[in-house]
Amino acid sequence: MTSLNFAIIGCGGITLQNHLPGLALCPDSKVVALCDTDPATLERARQQTGVTVTSTRYEEIVRRDEVHAVIIATPNFTHAPIALAAIAHGKHVLCEKPLALNAADAQAMADAADHAGVRHMTAFTYRFVPAMRYLRDLVQRGDLGQPYHYRSCRLQDWGTRNLGWRQVKQLAGTGELGDMLSHRIDFAHLLVGPMKRLVANTRNLTPVRGGAPNDTEDWVGLLAEFQCGASGVLESSKLASGRNESWRSLDSVEINGSERSFVFITGQWDRLQTGKAGGPGLETLPVPRACWTWPGSPRDPSLGDPLVSFRYDQAWEFVDAIRNQRPCVPTFHDGARAQAVMDAAVRSAETKQWVDLRARS
Ligand SMILES: NC(=O)c1ccc[n+]([C@@H]2O[C@H](COP(=O)([O-])OP(=O)(O)OC[C@H]3O[C@@H](n4cnc5c(N)ncnc54)[C@H](O)[C@@H]3O)[C@@H](O)[C@H]2O)c1
Repeated sequence: MTSLNFAIIGCGGITLQNHLPGLALCPDSKVVALCDTDPATLERARQQTGVTVTSTRYEEIVRRDEVHAVIIATPNFTHAPIALAAIAHGKHVLCEKPLALNAADAQAMADAADHAGVRHMTAFTYRFVPAMRYLRDLVQRGDLGQPYHYRSCRLQDWGTRNLGWRQVKQLAGTGELGDMLSHRIDFAHLLVGPMKRLVANTRNLTPVRGGAPNDTEDWVGLLAEFQCGASGVLESSKLASGRNESWRSLDSVEINGSERSFVFITGQWDRLQTGKAGGPGLETLPVPRACWTWPGSPRDPSLGDPLVSFRYDQAWEFVDAIRNQRPCVPTFHDGARAQAVMDAAVRSAETKQWVDLRARS
């Protein structure tokens, strides 16, 4: 088997937490080049990985012949130009979410990747939580019946600290909407299908964070009608004081259908709650062991913290899709679909109106 060579563009938080450990588990796959505009971050990544090909300019990295695939883990405003440059050089691309600053750019990325015949993947990492994967399987085989309601709630306590590029609209696009709600919009598409129209509101309760201006929202609420007739309520906040952060805080999805309800909570990666229509209430449904890792993943689910290590399966999915020349799960098209909902939410919050979503193929 020939070795797959990866370049990492952006060597900050998520690269250290997800991408490097994920790739390290994939056989015959290695990181051969690193890029970061911050020389100190680049040097730390070089020392940590031993990778000697480094640059502060992505243009120098994406054109290298030995690089087969690129992982983009930079601030949101750079995703589209970096991805388009990598695609133009025939590289497969895994790009962090939100895919771009708007749906037009995200769609252009998806179209360019399709046209070039390269693999493309959006890092909707929470699809890889075993309980979410199992829930998707159960809904697909019809256990839910006709979908009635989709509900997601992401509540974290980020206080008023400085968030760097994340609190600058020009660099991040949006705040909580792109940062956290984008994953839950993707879940909604996965479980219920496309939305028909929505109305949304956003709030910025911290115009100054850590002494610097913040022009992004801390809270977003979205009410949706799906094409299938189901309704959706999605809420996400950085200001749920006392709830802590990350997987220690609340991240829940509830879906109610004609046959059953299911409840998914990221922190409870190995179980769902479910109840039958007319039944006595919710009970625990364990996630079968076969779903504890992504199909084919070499990861041992008993090693490490399972609430961290499920994220490593994302790299495996990218590698496996490249090797088997099949579409990644999820693709840039999934990223663009979520981006269209984000654009509509921004427009709705600005105009105080319902916004229709264009039917997409
Ligand atoms: N999938 C997930 O669960 C998840 C989790 C966290 C972050 N993210 C996403 O990952 C991306 C990065 O987030 P982060 O938390 O790692 O941010 P970060 O600030 O920790 O790291 C970003 C790095 O990119 C570098 N950079 C900036 N511009 C660059 C450029 N043009 N070329 C090369 N390097 C550049 C910065 O110097 C920094 O080191 C964001 O899009 C974010 O939304 C996704």
